[in-house]
Amino acid sequence: MKTGSNTMRSLQFLILFLCFVINACAQKLVSPNYESKIDALIGLMTLEEKIGQLTQISNHFDLTGPPPQEGDDKKRYELLSKGLIGSMLNVTSVEDTRRAQEMVLEKSRLGIPLLFGMDVIHGYRTMFPIPLGEAASWDLEAVELSSRIAAREASASGIHWTFAPVVDITRDARWGRIMEGAGEDPYLGSLVAAARVRGFQGDHLDSSYTIAACAKHFAAYGFAESGRDYNIVDMSENTLYNVVLPPFKACLDAGVATFMSGYHELNGIPATADPLLLRDILKGEWGFEGFVVSDYNSVREVASHGLASNRQEATQRAILAGSDMDMGSLCYSTYLGELVESGRVPESVADEAVRRVLRVKFQLGLFEDPFRYCSPERERTEVYSEKNRAASLDIARKSIVLLKNEGGLLPLKQPRRIAVIGPLVKDKDVPLGSWRARAIDNSAVSLWEGLQKTLHKDTELLYAEGCRITAGKRSFRDKLTISYDTSGFAAAREAARDADLVIMAIGEDCFQSAEARSRTDIGLPGVQQQLLETVYAVNPNVVVVLMNGRPLDLSWMAENVPAIVETWFLGSESGNAIADVLSGKYNPSGKLPASFPRSVGQLPIYYNHKSTGRPGNENHNHIFWSHYIDEKQGPLWPFGYGLSYTTFEYTGLELNKTVISSDEQLEVKATLENTGKMGGHEIAQLYICDLAGSITRPVKELKGFRKIWLEAGEQREITFILTAEDLKFYNAAGKWEAEPGEFKVFVGGNSRENLEAVFELKETR
Ligand code: BGC
Repeated sequence: MKTGSNTMRSLQFLILFLCFVINACAQKLVSPNYESKIDALIGLMTLEEKIGQLTQISNHFDLTGPPPQEGDDKKRYELLSKGLIGSMLNVTSVEDTRRAQEMVLEKSRLGIPLLFGMDVIHGYRTMFPIPLGEAASWDLEAVELSSRIAAREASASGIHWTFAPVVDITRDARWGRIMEGAGEDPYLGSLVAAARVRGFQGDHLDSSYTIAACAKHFAAYGFAESGRDYNIVDMSENTLYNVVLPPFKACLDAGVATFMSGYHELNGIPATADPLLLRDILKGEWGFEGFVVSDYNSVREVASHGLASNRQEATQRAILAGSDMDMGSLCYSTYLGELVESGRVPESVADEAVRRVLRVKFQLGLFEDPFRYCSPERERTEVYSEKNRAASLDIARKSIVLLKNEGGLLPLKQPRRIAVIGPLVKDKDVPLGSWRARAIDNSAVSLWEGLQKTLHKDTELLYAEGCRITAGKRSFRDKLTISYDTSGFAAAREAARDADLVIMAIGEDCFQSAEARSRTDIGLPGVQQQLLETVYAVNPNVVVVLMNGRPLDLSWMAENVPAIVETWFLGSESGNAIADVLSGKYNPSGKLPASFPRSVGQLPIYYNHKSTGRPGNENHNHIFWSHYIDEKQGPLWPFGYGLSYTTFEYTGLELNKTVISSDEQLEVKATLENTGKMGGHEIAQLYICDLAGSITRPVKELKGFRKIWLEAGEQREITFILTAEDLKFYNAAGKWEAEPGEFKVFVGGNSRENLEAVFELKETR
C-alpha cells in the first residue's frame, strides 16, 4: 500500500515537473517546435486521457443533432473534470469558456486546456453577408476582412476555433447549404477560401485576435445527389481533383489548422471513414499536419450508412481512416479504448491523432495561457462595435448584384410616393441569415429602416406586408410551415395602385437555405409569386429586392419585372446597404458566384460544363443535340453576371504571343471603357478553354479577374498574365499538368459574353 502511494506521489511530481518544463519551453520559443513537448506529454497520458483529447462535446444541447439523452449532462461533467474531453463546441461567452477551462485545469490530472470551437460562418455577433453573398463581391480583401472581424469578435469571447470556411463547390441550388460556400467555381472558390483562412488565422495563430480555421466538408459534400442534404455522392476522380479539391488545397496552402469531414459518402465510403480522402490525399499526398474533426455525430453515422455493423466498428473505421477528433457522437470515448486494448486499432494511430490535436493547441498558445482568448474587456468593447458594423455595411453593399434594370429604373429618381410591399420589408431577422453564431435575433437593419433613413424626406413611403413566407415558429432547428394566407393582398394592391413605384422585398426565410434545407421547388416560397403578380397587375413599375440563400427560379420575374436586385442575406446592416444601392448612393458591382437556372429541371447547372458530343444552340435545325425540348438553353443569369448603374464595354482583345512554351508568360490585354454616365466598379473576368485534352475539358474556366473603378467615359487597358501553371489540371495520367495544344482565352464581364482569341501551348522537349 505504502509503496503504491509513494509511487503515485512520485508520478504526480514527475507530471507536474514535466508540465512545468513544457510550459516554460513553450513560453521561450519564438518559432516553436512543439514536437518534443508533444511527445513528452503523450508519454504521460493514459489511454483514456489520449482518447479524451480526441473527444469533442457540445455545450448544453446539440445544435445540429438530436437532443442530449437523460444523464448526459452528469456524464459530461464527469468526463470534463477527469480530463477526458479535449474540446467543446458552442460554449459562447467569456464567462462560460472561462468556467469550463478553469474546471478542466483545476480538476483534471494533466490540465490540458480545452479547445473551444463554434460555427462562426459569416460573423460572430456583427453579421456579414452569408458566404455565397459575400463571394458575389469578388472582393478578396473584403472577404478577408469580414473573417478577420469575425475572428476578433469570437476570440474575445474565448472561442479558439471556427468550423469555417465552408469550401464545398456546388452546382445544385436545391442544396440548402449552397449559402455557406462560395458557389460553383473552383478558381473563385479557392481564392475566397484562402482569403477566409487568412482572415480567421492572421499571421499568427497564437495571437489572441485570431482563431483556427477549419476547411469543410472534406470532400465533395456539395455534390449530394439530387441536391438532397446528407445524400450520397458518386463522383469521378477527375471531377474530384479538378473541381472539388482545389479550394481545400488552397486552404491547406494558406495554412489552415484543421479540416472537417462530412455527413455524405463518396463513392460508397462515408467521408468520415474514408482513408482515400483523409489518409492518402490529405495527410499523405498533401502532408497536412493539423487535425481532422468529424462532422457532428458523423462517426456514429458510419454505421447508419452501412459501412459498419455497429458503432464500435464505425469508430474503428473512422479513426483508422484518419478522423482524429469525434464531434459529438461520444463513439471514441465509448469504444476506442477497447479497440486499442484488443489490438484492433494500434495505439500508435490514436497517438498520432492526439499529436495532431495537441499540435493545434500548442499553435494557438493554449499551453502558454489557456485564457488568452477570454477578454471581458474586448468582449464588451469589440463585439458588435460601430467599427465592425461599418465594415459589415461596406461588405454588404459590395455583395449586392443588380440582375435587371430595364429603362434605368434604378437608381430611384426621387419618386413622390413609393409602395414598399412584401414579407421582408420590415423583417429584422431574416437578413441575419442562417448560421448566425451569436447574432441577436431581430437585430438587422430592415429594408424599411434603411429606406426611411436614406430616401429624400419628400418621398412618401407606403407599406403593406402582403403576405408572410412562413407561419408560426421559425429557427435553425424548427421545421418551417409555409404560409398560404392571401388576406394581405388587398392592402398590397391598394398601396401599389396609389404609388409611383413599388419596391417589393421578397425571397426566402433565411432558415429555408441552410443545413437540412433542400428544396425541390426553387421558386418563391408560399404565395409570394402570386403577390408579385397581383401587385404587378396594378403597377408594373416594380423593383424587386430579393433576399435568399440560393439561386432561385425567377423566370417570370426576369421576363416581366423591370428591376431586380439580389441582396442574399446581407447581415446586420442589410437595410442600409440596400437603401444605399436603391438610392444610387452606391453603384452596385457584385457578380453571381453561381448560375441562376431558368427552372429547377436544369439543375445541376454551371458555366464550366463540358461540351458533349452534341453541343449546340437554339438555331439548330434538328433535334438530336444536347438540350431540353421544353426550356430555353443555358441559365437565366450566368456565373459572373451582374449589372451596374453604368455600362462597360470590352474591346481590342490582344495577346502578346500566339504560341507560348511552358516557361513563358502570355499577356492578355483588352480595353475596358465605362460607356455610361456614372463612375463604377467592373469585375473583369478572364476565362480559358483547353480545346482538346487527355480528358475532356470544360467549355470555360475562370482563370483571373480584376475589380476596376472607372469614371464615366474613362477607358483603361487591362492586362492579365497567364502561365502554364494556369493551364494545369488533373489529367488522364493522374498528373497535375498542362497539356500542349490549342486554348481559347476569353475576356468579359461575365461567363457568357466575352471577347475571344486563340493561343497554343508548345510541346516542351
Ligand atoms: C454541420 C457542420 C457544423 C457542425 C457543428 C453539423 O451539423 O454539418 O458544418 O460545423 O454541425 O455545428
